[in-house]
Amino acid sequence: MQPNPTIENMLNRTSIRAYTDREPTQEELITILRAGQQAPFASQLGSVLLKRDRDNNPFHAPLYFTICVDAHKWEQIMARRGWEMVSTDLLVILLGMQDAALMAENMVIAAESLGMGSCFLGAVPYKAAEIIEEYGLPPRVFPMVGLAMGFPAESPPPRPRYPLDFVVFEDQYPTFSETQIQEAMQMMDGGYLAQDYYSKLKAKIRIRDKSKPDTFDYQTYSWTEHISRKWGQDLFPPNLIDQFERCGFFIGKRAEED
Ligand SMILES: Cc1cc2nc3c(=O)[nH]c(=O)nc-3n(C[C@H](O)[C@H](O)[C@H](O)COP(=O)(O)O)c2cc1C
Repeated sequence: MQPNPTIENMLNRTSIRAYTDREPTQEELITILRAGQQAPFASQLGSVLLKRDRDNNPFHAPLYFTICVDAHKWEQIMARRGWEMVSTDLLVILLGMQDAALMAENMVIAAESLGMGSCFLGAVPYKAAEIIEEYGLPPRVFPMVGLAMGFPAESPPPRPRYPLDFVVFEDQYPTFSETQIQEAMQMMDGGYLAQDYYSKLKAKIRIRDKSKPDTFDYQTYSWTEHISRKWGQDLFPPNLIDQFERCGFFIGKRAEED
């Protein structure tokens, strides 16, 4: 590993869920936003909504961003060039999420370099109606993810990741050995357990099927069980496609079919 301040910032970054009273200055805010904006883009299909309403922001963070996929402003520009969007909304959303995610992560790293911390919030797409209302969003803007930010009032150790050889496959995708899978699971579960992560967050997901015994307590419940319960029980609201349509994106069909 070749350490330098940028790499150290990235390797030591953690999601921060508690913030001090210190308000980021306007200069700090603009620096973070400009660093975000300078991320690579396919079509600059990202926009950032900002709330500085600490009382109502998640984790009482001084800054709360909602990162959006924004085809509205792009279509305004296309119209001035005499063009209309004919690409499918699936493609627009895919490219838009790439643009918006890269911008968001640049903001995270920039904040980190200024001594600040942040945490993404994934439930935002399910709150499309509220967000449209709150910010007066026009059609063709989709709220993708929330991002709380401020000066950290906690300093947790970095969270674990898979072994690199479970992530990077040079030339050929491998057939995983049982040992490799067990090692990956152990790396994640051992790492989170060592931090009492789920116990501190009180974040154990209940098993809905009453015939399936819950054999885990907070001494054994960790990431692989948590994520399995999340994805194995269909806990997410069923209406994601409705949320896209509410925002004027018609994935898998043409707008006029609706
Ligand atoms: C798209 C996305 C959505 C997330 N949503 C939430 C959330 O709703 N609440 C939360 O506390 N953390 C959320 N997180 C933070 C993750 O839990 C965190 O990144 C992960 O546990 C790894 O920890 P680390 O960021 O400290 O390395 C989210 C992260 C991402 C990238």
